Amino acid sequence: MNILITGGAGYIGSHTCVALLERGYDVIVADNFVNSDPVVLQRIREITGRDFHSYEIDVTDAEAVERLFQAYKIDGVIHFAGLKAVGESVQKPLEYYRNNLLSTIVLADNCIRYGVGKFVFSSSATVYGDQEVPLAESMPLRGTTNPYGETKAMSERILTDTARAHPKLAVSLLRYFNPVGAHESGLIGESPRGIPNNLMPYITQVAKGKLAKLYVYGDDYPTVDGTGVRDYIHVVDLAEGHVAALERLEEGVHVYNLGTGQGTSVLQLVKTFEQVNGIKIPYEIVGRRPGDVAESYADVSKAWRELGWSAKRGIDEMCRDAWRYEVNHSDE
Ligand code: WQD
Repeated sequence: MNILITGGAGYIGSHTCVALLERGYDVIVADNFVNSDPVVLQRIREITGRDFHSYEIDVTDAEAVERLFQAYKIDGVIHFAGLKAVGESVQKPLEYYRNNLLSTIVLADNCIRYGVGKFVFSSSATVYGDQEVPLAESMPLRGTTNPYGETKAMSERILTDTARAHPKLAVSLLRYFNPVGAHESGLIGESPRGIPNNLMPYITQVAKGKLAKLYVYGDDYPTVDGTGVRDYIHVVDLAEGHVAALERLEEGVHVYNLGTGQGTSVLQLVKTFEQVNGIKIPYEIVGRRPGDVAESYADVSKAWRELGWSAKRGIDEMCRDAWRYEVNHSDE
Protein backbone atom coordinates (compact mmCIF):
# COMPACT_ATOMS: atom_id res chain seq x y z
CA MET A 1 0.00 0.00 0.00
CA ASN A 2 1.17 3.53 -0.88
CA ILE A 3 0.79 6.01 1.98
CA LEU A 4 1.34 9.72 1.34
CA ILE A 5 2.89 11.33 4.41
CA THR A 6 2.83 15.13 4.41
CA GLY A 7 5.39 16.63 6.80
CA GLY A 8 7.26 13.30 6.79
CA ALA A 9 10.59 14.98 7.66
CA GLY A 10 9.08 16.47 10.82
CA TYR A 11 9.20 15.19 14.38
CA ILE A 12 6.05 13.03 14.44
CA GLY A 13 5.96 12.46 10.69
CA SER A 14 9.46 10.95 10.60
CA HIS A 15 8.70 8.54 13.45
CA THR A 16 5.48 7.49 11.69
CA CYS A 17 7.39 6.90 8.43
CA VAL A 18 9.70 4.55 10.35
CA ALA A 19 6.75 2.66 11.85
CA LEU A 20 5.03 2.29 8.45
CA LEU A 21 8.17 1.25 6.54
CA GLU A 22 8.98 -1.33 9.23
CA ARG A 23 5.51 -2.82 8.67
CA GLY A 24 5.98 -3.12 4.92
CA TYR A 25 4.05 -0.09 3.72
CA ASP A 26 5.35 1.98 0.83
CA VAL A 27 5.71 5.64 1.78
CA ILE A 28 5.72 8.84 -0.27
CA VAL A 29 6.86 11.93 1.66
CA ALA A 30 5.85 15.48 0.77
CA ASP A 31 7.55 18.17 2.86
CA ASN A 32 8.57 21.79 2.20
CA PHE A 33 11.23 21.66 4.95
CA VAL A 34 10.08 25.00 6.39
CA ASN A 35 10.34 23.48 9.87
CA SER A 36 12.30 20.27 9.23
CA ASP A 37 15.62 19.10 7.82
CA PRO A 38 15.89 16.92 4.65
CA VAL A 39 18.69 14.94 6.31
CA VAL A 40 15.98 13.28 8.44
CA LEU A 41 14.81 11.39 5.33
CA GLN A 42 18.21 9.74 5.00
CA ARG A 43 18.12 8.78 8.68
CA ILE A 44 14.72 7.14 8.16
CA ARG A 45 16.28 5.04 5.38
CA GLU A 46 19.21 4.20 7.69
CA ILE A 47 16.92 3.09 10.54
CA THR A 48 14.58 0.99 8.40
CA GLY A 49 16.91 -0.19 5.64
CA ARG A 50 14.14 0.74 3.22
CA ASP A 51 13.99 3.38 0.52
CA PHE A 52 11.03 5.59 -0.37
CA HIS A 53 10.11 8.52 -2.60
CA SER A 54 10.19 12.08 -1.23
CA TYR A 55 9.27 15.44 -2.76
CA GLU A 56 9.96 19.00 -1.65
CA ILE A 57 6.40 20.26 -1.92
CA ASP A 58 4.27 22.88 -0.18
CA VAL A 59 1.02 20.97 0.25
CA THR A 60 -1.00 24.17 -0.19
CA ASP A 61 0.23 24.10 -3.82
CA ALA A 62 -2.74 22.37 -5.51
CA GLU A 63 -0.91 21.74 -8.81
CA ALA A 64 2.12 20.15 -7.14
CA VAL A 65 -0.08 17.97 -4.93
CA GLU A 66 -2.20 16.86 -7.90
CA ARG A 67 0.93 15.77 -9.76
CA LEU A 68 1.63 13.37 -6.86
CA PHE A 69 -1.87 11.86 -7.06
CA GLN A 70 -1.43 11.46 -10.82
CA ALA A 71 2.00 9.84 -10.44
CA TYR A 72 1.10 7.32 -7.72
CA LYS A 73 -1.85 5.17 -6.78
CA ILE A 74 -2.23 6.52 -3.25
CA ASP A 75 -4.13 4.26 -0.81
CA GLY A 76 -4.03 6.53 2.21
CA VAL A 77 -2.91 9.96 3.38
CA ILE A 78 -1.49 10.91 6.79
CA HIS A 79 -1.45 14.70 7.01
CA PHE A 80 1.15 16.07 9.45
CA ALA A 81 2.35 19.14 7.53
CA GLY A 82 1.29 22.30 9.33
CA LEU A 83 2.47 25.29 11.31
CA LYS A 84 2.27 24.45 15.00
CA ALA A 85 3.67 27.17 17.27
CA VAL A 86 0.85 28.38 19.51
CA GLY A 87 2.43 31.74 20.33
CA GLU A 88 3.41 32.41 16.71
CA SER A 89 -0.16 31.68 15.60
CA VAL A 90 -1.39 34.57 17.75
CA GLN A 91 1.06 36.91 15.97
CA LYS A 92 0.42 35.54 12.44
CA PRO A 93 -3.18 34.23 12.32
CA LEU A 94 -3.65 34.58 8.55
CA GLU A 95 -0.48 32.56 7.82
CA TYR A 96 -1.77 29.81 10.10
CA TYR A 97 -5.32 29.78 8.73
CA ARG A 98 -4.09 29.82 5.14
CA ASN A 99 -1.40 27.18 5.51
CA ASN A 100 -3.16 24.75 7.84
CA LEU A 101 -6.64 24.94 6.30
CA LEU A 102 -5.69 25.18 2.63
CA SER A 103 -3.34 22.19 2.91
CA THR A 104 -6.18 20.11 4.38
CA ILE A 105 -8.60 21.25 1.66
CA VAL A 106 -6.14 20.56 -1.18
CA LEU A 107 -5.40 17.06 0.12
CA ALA A 108 -9.04 16.14 0.79
CA ASP A 109 -10.06 17.41 -2.67
CA ASN A 110 -7.43 15.20 -4.33
CA CYS A 111 -8.46 12.21 -2.20
CA ILE A 112 -12.03 12.58 -3.49
CA ARG A 113 -11.01 13.03 -7.12
CA TYR A 114 -8.49 10.19 -7.13
CA GLY A 115 -10.53 7.73 -5.07
CA VAL A 116 -8.26 7.59 -2.00
CA GLY A 117 -10.09 5.73 0.76
CA LYS A 118 -8.25 6.70 3.98
CA PHE A 119 -7.31 10.07 5.51
CA VAL A 120 -5.60 10.23 8.92
CA PHE A 121 -5.30 13.74 10.34
CA SER A 122 -2.80 15.07 12.87
CA SER A 123 -5.04 16.92 15.31
CA SER A 124 -4.30 18.08 18.86
CA ALA A 125 -5.68 17.99 22.40
CA THR A 126 -5.62 21.77 22.10
CA VAL A 127 -9.03 21.53 20.42
CA TYR A 128 -10.59 20.69 23.82
CA GLY A 129 -9.73 24.11 25.22
CA ASP A 130 -9.95 24.41 29.00
CA GLN A 131 -12.27 21.57 30.10
CA GLU A 132 -12.49 19.04 32.92
CA VAL A 133 -9.96 16.19 32.80
CA PRO A 134 -9.74 13.45 31.70
CA LEU A 135 -10.58 14.75 28.23
CA ALA A 136 -12.87 12.46 26.20
CA GLU A 137 -13.61 12.45 22.47
CA SER A 138 -17.33 12.79 23.21
CA MET A 139 -16.82 16.22 24.81
CA PRO A 140 -18.12 19.24 22.88
CA LEU A 141 -15.40 21.54 21.53
CA ARG A 142 -15.91 25.00 22.99
CA GLY A 143 -13.20 26.90 21.17
CA THR A 144 -9.48 27.11 21.80
CA THR A 145 -7.23 29.89 23.09
CA ASN A 146 -5.28 30.44 19.86
CA PRO A 147 -5.46 30.41 16.04
CA TYR A 148 -3.27 27.28 15.87
CA GLY A 149 -5.84 25.36 17.93
CA GLU A 150 -8.65 26.80 15.83
CA THR A 151 -7.01 25.53 12.62
CA LYS A 152 -7.00 22.04 14.10
CA ALA A 153 -10.66 22.24 15.13
CA MET A 154 -11.64 23.71 11.74
CA SER A 155 -9.65 21.06 9.85
CA GLU A 156 -11.51 18.39 11.83
CA ARG A 157 -14.77 20.02 10.75
CA ILE A 158 -13.70 20.26 7.10
CA LEU A 159 -12.73 16.57 7.00
CA THR A 160 -15.87 15.48 8.86
CA ASP A 161 -18.18 17.28 6.43
CA THR A 162 -16.17 16.04 3.43
CA ALA A 163 -16.35 12.40 4.55
CA ARG A 164 -20.09 12.70 5.13
CA ALA A 165 -20.57 13.99 1.59
CA HIS A 166 -18.20 11.37 0.13
CA PRO A 167 -18.65 8.05 2.02
CA LYS A 168 -15.81 6.40 0.09
CA LEU A 169 -13.39 8.58 2.07
CA ALA A 170 -12.90 7.32 5.64
CA VAL A 171 -11.36 9.78 8.11
CA SER A 172 -9.51 9.32 11.41
CA LEU A 173 -8.87 12.43 13.53
CA LEU A 174 -6.05 11.84 16.01
CA ARG A 175 -5.83 14.25 18.95
CA TYR A 176 -2.27 14.23 20.29
CA PHE A 177 -1.53 15.14 23.85
CA ASN A 178 2.12 16.04 24.53
CA PRO A 179 4.53 14.12 22.27
CA VAL A 180 8.08 13.80 23.67
CA GLY A 181 11.10 11.52 23.37
CA ALA A 182 12.81 10.07 20.29
CA HIS A 183 13.50 6.84 18.43
CA GLU A 184 15.86 4.59 20.44
CA SER A 185 18.53 4.85 17.71
CA GLY A 186 19.03 8.52 18.62
CA LEU A 187 19.00 9.28 14.88
CA ILE A 188 15.66 11.11 14.73
CA GLY A 189 13.93 13.28 17.31
CA GLU A 190 12.65 16.75 18.08
CA SER A 191 14.80 19.61 16.74
CA PRO A 192 12.90 22.84 17.37
CA ARG A 193 14.31 25.88 15.59
CA GLY A 194 15.52 28.61 17.98
CA ILE A 195 14.53 28.67 21.66
CA PRO A 196 12.14 25.74 22.30
CA ASN A 197 8.55 26.58 23.22
CA ASN A 198 7.89 23.10 24.59
CA LEU A 199 9.03 21.77 27.94
CA MET A 200 11.01 18.64 27.06
CA PRO A 201 13.30 20.15 24.38
CA TYR A 202 13.89 23.09 26.72
CA ILE A 203 14.95 20.67 29.48
CA THR A 204 17.30 18.75 27.18
CA GLN A 205 18.94 22.00 26.04
CA VAL A 206 19.44 23.06 29.67
CA ALA A 207 20.94 19.62 30.35
CA LYS A 208 23.28 20.13 27.39
CA GLY A 209 24.31 23.56 28.66
CA LYS A 210 22.85 25.39 25.66
CA LEU A 211 20.37 27.17 27.95
CA ALA A 212 21.23 28.33 31.50
CA LYS A 213 18.11 27.22 33.34
CA LEU A 214 14.49 26.22 32.96
CA TYR A 215 11.79 28.79 33.70
CA VAL A 216 8.79 27.06 35.25
CA TYR A 217 5.65 28.90 34.18
CA GLY A 218 3.76 29.13 37.45
CA ASP A 219 3.52 26.97 40.57
CA ASP A 220 0.15 28.26 41.77
CA TYR A 221 -2.12 26.01 39.71
CA PRO A 222 -4.61 23.73 41.52
CA THR A 223 -2.46 20.66 40.80
CA VAL A 224 -0.40 18.08 42.72
CA ASP A 225 2.53 20.52 43.19
CA GLY A 226 1.17 23.75 41.69
CA THR A 227 2.85 23.32 38.31
CA GLY A 228 1.13 22.46 35.04
CA VAL A 229 0.07 18.84 34.49
CA ARG A 230 0.18 17.28 31.01
CA ASP A 231 -0.21 13.87 29.36
CA TYR A 232 3.25 13.20 27.87
CA ILE A 233 3.28 10.43 25.27
CA HIS A 234 6.39 8.82 23.72
CA VAL A 235 6.61 9.79 20.05
CA VAL A 236 7.13 6.13 19.06
CA ASP A 237 3.89 5.18 20.83
CA LEU A 238 2.25 8.04 18.95
CA ALA A 239 3.62 6.75 15.63
CA GLU A 240 2.29 3.27 16.39
CA GLY A 241 -1.09 4.83 17.13
CA HIS A 242 -1.14 6.19 13.57
CA VAL A 243 -0.47 2.73 12.11
CA ALA A 244 -3.28 1.26 14.22
CA ALA A 245 -5.68 4.03 13.13
CA LEU A 246 -4.76 3.55 9.46
CA GLU A 247 -5.16 -0.22 9.58
CA ARG A 248 -8.53 -0.14 11.36
CA LEU A 249 -9.97 2.68 9.25
CA GLU A 250 -12.77 1.31 7.07
CA GLU A 251 -15.55 3.89 6.75
CA GLY A 252 -16.99 7.03 8.35
CA VAL A 253 -15.32 9.59 10.61
CA HIS A 254 -13.56 8.62 13.84
CA VAL A 255 -11.91 10.68 16.59
CA TYR A 256 -9.27 9.29 18.95
CA ASN A 257 -7.18 10.65 21.80
CA LEU A 258 -3.56 9.56 21.55
CA GLY A 259 -2.19 9.91 25.06
CA THR A 260 -1.26 7.75 28.06
CA GLY A 261 -4.12 8.78 30.34
CA GLN A 262 -1.53 9.79 32.94
CA GLY A 263 -0.84 13.36 34.07
CA THR A 264 2.71 14.50 34.95
CA SER A 265 3.57 17.92 36.41
CA VAL A 266 6.45 20.11 35.25
CA LEU A 267 8.43 19.48 38.44
CA GLN A 268 7.71 15.73 38.30
CA LEU A 269 9.08 15.63 34.73
CA VAL A 270 12.17 17.62 35.76
CA LYS A 271 12.80 15.28 38.70
CA THR A 272 12.39 12.18 36.52
CA PHE A 273 14.74 13.59 33.88
CA GLU A 274 17.37 14.31 36.56
CA GLN A 275 17.09 10.82 38.05
CA VAL A 276 17.08 8.94 34.74
CA ASN A 277 19.96 10.85 33.18
CA GLY A 278 21.96 11.82 36.28
CA ILE A 279 21.90 15.50 35.37
CA LYS A 280 20.80 18.47 37.50
CA ILE A 281 18.32 20.81 35.84
CA PRO A 282 18.48 24.29 37.41
CA TYR A 283 15.13 26.06 37.33
CA GLU A 284 13.37 29.20 38.46
CA ILE A 285 9.64 29.55 39.13
CA VAL A 286 8.22 32.51 37.19
CA GLY A 287 4.70 33.74 36.29
CA ARG A 288 2.12 31.69 34.41
CA ARG A 289 2.29 31.57 30.58
CA PRO A 290 -0.83 33.15 28.98
CA GLY A 291 -3.13 30.52 27.44
CA ASP A 292 -1.87 27.62 29.57
CA VAL A 293 -4.40 25.36 31.27
CA ALA A 294 -3.73 23.80 34.69
CA GLU A 295 -4.28 20.18 33.68
CA SER A 296 -4.61 18.27 30.43
CA TYR A 297 -4.67 14.49 30.17
CA ALA A 298 -6.61 11.99 28.10
CA ASP A 299 -9.37 9.47 28.56
CA VAL A 300 -7.66 6.78 26.44
CA SER A 301 -10.35 4.08 26.57
CA LYS A 302 -11.71 4.64 23.06
CA ALA A 303 -8.41 4.06 21.21
CA TRP A 304 -7.90 0.86 23.19
CA ARG A 305 -11.49 -0.34 22.61
CA GLU A 306 -11.65 0.47 18.89
CA LEU A 307 -8.02 0.37 17.71
CA GLY A 308 -6.55 -2.10 20.13
CA TRP A 309 -3.85 0.50 20.76
CA SER A 310 -2.45 1.92 24.00
CA ALA A 311 0.77 3.71 24.89
CA LYS A 312 3.44 1.36 26.24
CA ARG A 313 6.41 3.60 27.10
CA GLY A 314 6.70 5.49 30.39
CA ILE A 315 8.13 8.83 31.47
CA ASP A 316 11.52 7.29 32.28
CA GLU A 317 11.92 6.02 28.70
CA MET A 318 10.72 9.37 27.31
CA CYS A 319 13.39 11.21 29.33
CA ARG A 320 16.14 8.72 28.40
CA ASP A 321 15.35 8.80 24.68
CA ALA A 322 14.95 12.58 24.53
CA TRP A 323 18.34 13.03 26.18
CA ARG A 324 20.07 10.50 23.87
CA TYR A 325 18.82 12.45 20.83
CA GLU A 326 19.97 15.78 22.29
CA VAL A 327 23.46 14.36 22.95
CA ASN A 328 23.69 13.02 19.38
CA HIS A 329 22.33 16.12 17.65
CA SER A 330 22.83 19.10 19.88
CA ASP A 331 24.74 20.93 17.14
CA GLU A 332 21.70 20.94 14.81
C1 WQD B 1 3.95 21.83 28.95
C2 WQD B 1 3.97 22.35 30.39
C3 WQD B 1 3.95 24.75 30.54
C4 WQD B 1 7.91 25.31 28.69
C5 WQD B 1 1.78 22.63 23.44
C6 WQD B 1 0.75 23.04 22.44
C7 WQD B 1 0.00 21.84 21.93
C8 WQD B 1 0.98 20.81 21.44
C9 WQD B 1 1.99 20.45 22.50
C10 WQD B 1 1.13 21.02 19.08
C11 WQD B 1 3.03 23.52 30.61
C12 WQD B 1 5.25 24.20 31.08
C13 WQD B 1 6.74 24.74 29.20
C14 WQD B 1 8.81 25.98 29.57
C15 WQD B 1 7.33 25.48 31.41
N1 WQD B 1 1.62 21.28 20.29
N2 WQD B 1 6.47 24.83 30.53
N3 WQD B 1 8.48 26.04 30.91
O1 WQD B 1 1.60 23.95 26.18
O2 WQD B 1 0.92 21.62 26.98
O3 WQD B 1 1.14 22.07 24.54
O4 WQD B 1 2.66 21.66 22.88
O5 WQD B 1 0.20 20.31 18.80
O6 WQD B 1 -0.85 22.24 20.89
O7 WQD B 1 -0.19 23.88 23.10
O8 WQD B 1 3.18 21.97 25.95
O9 WQD B 1 5.56 21.68 26.42
O10 WQD B 1 4.70 24.02 25.90
O11 WQD B 1 4.14 22.96 28.09
O12 WQD B 1 7.06 25.55 32.63
O13 WQD B 1 9.88 26.51 29.17
O14 WQD B 1 5.28 22.83 30.68
O15 WQD B 1 3.47 25.82 31.36
O16 WQD B 1 2.49 23.41 31.93
P1 WQD B 1 1.65 22.47 26.00
P2 WQD B 1 4.48 22.69 26.54
